[in-house]
Amino acid sequence: MEKLSIEDMAVFCKRKGFVYPSSEIYGGFSGFWDFGHLGVELKNNIKNEWWKYHVQQREDIVGIDGSIITHPKVWQASGHVENFEDIMLKCSKCKQEIRADHFIEEKLKVNVEGRSVDEINSIMKKNKLKCPKCSSDFEKIRQFNLMFKTSVGPGEDNSSAAYLRPETAQLIFADFKLVADNARLKLPFGIAQIGKGFRNEISPRDFLFRCREFEMMEIEYFAHPEKTGKCPFIDEVNEEELSFLTAEMQEKKQQPKKMKVKDAIKRKLISEWHAYWLATEQKWFTGLGAKKENFRVRQHLEKEKSHYALDTWDLEYNFPFGWKELQGIANRSDFDLKQHIKFSGSDLSIFDEETRKKIVPYVVAEPSQGVERAFLVFMFDAYEYDKKRENVVLKLHPKLAPVKAGVFPLVNKLDNEAKKIYDSLKKDFNCIFDKSGSIGRRYARADEAGIPYCITVDFDTLKDKAVTVRNRDDTKQVRVPIKDLREAIGKLINNS
Ligand code: ATP
Ligand code: GLY
Repeated sequence: MEKLSIEDMAVFCKRKGFVYPSSEIYGGFSGFWDFGHLGVELKNNIKNEWWKYHVQQREDIVGIDGSIITHPKVWQASGHVENFEDIMLKCSKCKQEIRADHFIEEKLKVNVEGRSVDEINSIMKKNKLKCPKCSSDFEKIRQFNLMFKTSVGPGEDNSSAAYLRPETAQLIFADFKLVADNARLKLPFGIAQIGKGFRNEISPRDFLFRCREFEMMEIEYFAHPEKTGKCPFIDEVNEEELSFLTAEMQEKKQQPKKMKVKDAIKRKLISEWHAYWLATEQKWFTGLGAKKENFRVRQHLEKEKSHYALDTWDLEYNFPFGWKELQGIANRSDFDLKQHIKFSGSDLSIFDEETRKKIVPYVVAEPSQGVERAFLVFMFDAYEYDKKRENVVLKLHPKLAPVKAGVFPLVNKLDNEAKKIYDSLKKDFNCIFDKSGSIGRRYARADEAGIPYCITVDFDTLKDKAVTVRNRDDTKQVRVPIKDLREAIGKLINNS
């Protein structure tokens, strides 16, 4: 089937009430999006499933929810004030602003992320690159810091300046000692957070893929500095197959290679911790209905790595506009904790019972996932146009589906009976009651909203006290006694 374009996905999301352009009545606001009723339900389900899998179902990870505006020193210590920059090109005539590395990648098909201004300048000159809109020359190129600045309190001088966080991670580092002491965790352990991040992206584009305000689901996973080589959970993922693209393979222009985790580790292509987290993340996505063939893992090239990273791998997804980062997993070493020790003067080391020594732990992996990019993945892999039904069927995993069941009276006369069922079900599941239009139209609307189960109340219901439950994906129907309905729907959702 031909892939849906990102533009068509945006149209579909708006039509069905998943996502709207923010402030559309004022012409929209580039890089900002509002989530409609179905969108906010799907987004909440994604975040809840992520939290369950990464925090509640594990003994080694606890959560926090830090503030969005943080002490400005946090961002000086982290290096974001100095380094969180992209290179910007501005057209001398039409004044269009674009991100240099993306523009060069599009034009020349080379990855130049992380190159210096001088390097970008010489690539631009050598290849005589001009403004894509009006073919004029660019003005002098410059670095652009992506952090949104604000001021706190009534003072207007620089002393009140603060930033909206560009990542949630720094809150985890700043709170590290409090959390580690309270949670009484032993290394290795992780601290997780879900929350908004803000980046003043030079050219937001591709719908939800690159926004200026978005949500992040992040974990800082800490290990003993002398035990970074071994991951105690590696057996859980040894058999998982990933499609690997190392930095060396990219330099040699090779294609990704499918391999089991254990084989990639044996061949020393990847560290145990990176392999563990990449495989765990791929499993999370595919366990919720995403298609394995759309995933690969790519190592960052030397120059591409962030200022804090020793090694970074991205979990990439085959978006309609190419393979792109879905999640970044960096090894941040002890960079951040050491910086905060230096800038704050606080002792952020912990006592290691085993060696009886104080240590500053290493972040061996930082799975950092944008909620909006996950949202796109689940929507793309769920979207199918069914020729026979002549409507879209959004095959979202029942756990993610915004609405779990629709209750339909076959005719008006059965409204009361159907309403009773709806009233009882809605206490446990997000349901809708729909009595308008033919039953076929109601099924089609439910398919497009991704509702996995449609419950129809018909004349037989009055006699046999049972209803038909139609499965969205194969349209098969089963008769279920009303008294068992709650349990049956619960089982269907949880066992899929
Ligand atoms: P890119 O190279 O695409 O700009 P990045 O390397 O800046 O991404 P990270 O800094 O690794 O991204 O951010 C971690 C995660 O946060 C990303 O994998 C992505 O899921 C999400 N993310 C980052 N920037 C944005 C954005 N502007 N809009 C939506 N999600 C984002
Ligand atoms: N916290 C990781 C990132 O923002 O890239």
